[in-house]
Amino acid sequence: MSTVDSDPPVLEAEALTRHYAVSTGFLKPRATVRALEAVSFSLTAGRTLAVVGESGCGKSTLARQVTMLEKPTAGLLRLAGTDVAHADAATRKAMRRTVQMVFQNPFASLNPRKKIGQALEEPLAINTALAAPEREARARAMLARVGLRPEHYARYPHMFSGGQRQRVAIARALMLEPRVVVADEPVSALDVSIQAQVLNLLMDLQEETGVAYVFISHNLAVVELIADEVLVMYLGRVMERAPKAALFAAPRHPYTRALLASTPKVGAARGEAALASAARTALSGELPSPLAPPSGCVFRTRCPHAVAACAEVVPPLVPVGPAHDAACIRLDEIG
Ligand SMILES: Nc1ncnc2c1ncn2[C@@H]1O[C@H](COP(=O)(O)OP(=O)(O)OP(=O)(O)O)[C@@H](O)[C@H]1O
Ligand SMILES: [Mg+2]
Repeated sequence: MSTVDSDPPVLEAEALTRHYAVSTGFLKPRATVRALEAVSFSLTAGRTLAVVGESGCGKSTLARQVTMLEKPTAGLLRLAGTDVAHADAATRKAMRRTVQMVFQNPFASLNPRKKIGQALEEPLAINTALAAPEREARARAMLARVGLRPEHYARYPHMFSGGQRQRVAIARALMLEPRVVVADEPVSALDVSIQAQVLNLLMDLQEETGVAYVFISHNLAVVELIADEVLVMYLGRVMERAPKAALFAAPRHPYTRALLASTPKVGAARGEAALASAARTALSGELPSPLAPPSGCVFRTRCPHAVAACAEVVPPLVPVGPAHDAACIRLDEIG
């Protein structure tokens, strides 16, 4: 399915924010974790937005807002044109089938007592008025589309390999023809040889159906394969946002460069110039506590380019190229 830039976005976030109130101990005041802070992006049909960043940067929190498992603290979230962040419960419920989720561990998301056919038909039974024979026909057709065999219909999850189970989870997510699928580390638990097969399947299905993916991964080699756009996050904030080619060829934010530098396989494929510039900024130091993030730029405590001014203001995302933005006040100095 081909798409053009003028397509209306199927998913749009504007200053999307999610805070959690957490207890810091007995008789201590509650503190706020800013898990997601003013995150903006848009995604059109048939495209993949990869969300990358270290553990705790807010990737799964973003997934929970997009899939409507939680309501954002602030900001806008538009799904197929509908603002679901401020919608009433009935609207959110009605919109829920337009966005589906694939998790890292497919075994956890499949009921061990249910045959695969039943697992695939369940979303249809709950959300549609289709009769049983039609549900079965659709489940069987979907099995074939994800590369499984007819006899798999009557088998239980434990009879499948990890890769096959992830195929089932993908099939299940697609049964209601969602506009968006959020995949949270969908291949991280699989053997490397199986990862490529599942990624290829995801890309083929996208080509066929025009579904948009929000693809969460800490593995930049995987992101380089599957993404159209990339959102680089750190402590709940967007550090850089760019088309994939620009991000890997000419990363601008020191955090993005550090992430790339710590992924040798990706660096090697990018050519020496990019690798040399990335190597200067390899990631060091500890991730700050999310309960006490640094003032100003949250990355400054680990940034090799940080100066006093970085502690003063939160750097805005500024355009650095076509559809390419970075949040750093020293972009000119660091080149
Ligand atoms: N329900 C919650 N209550 C309190 N804090 C939370 C909650 N969910 C997430 N957090 C905090 O929000 C921050 C972001 O967490 P999140 O799970 O979104 O990160 P992540 O990027 O998905 O990390 P990982 O790569 O480890 O999966 C973390 O500091 C986390 O501890
Ligand atoms: Mg997570």
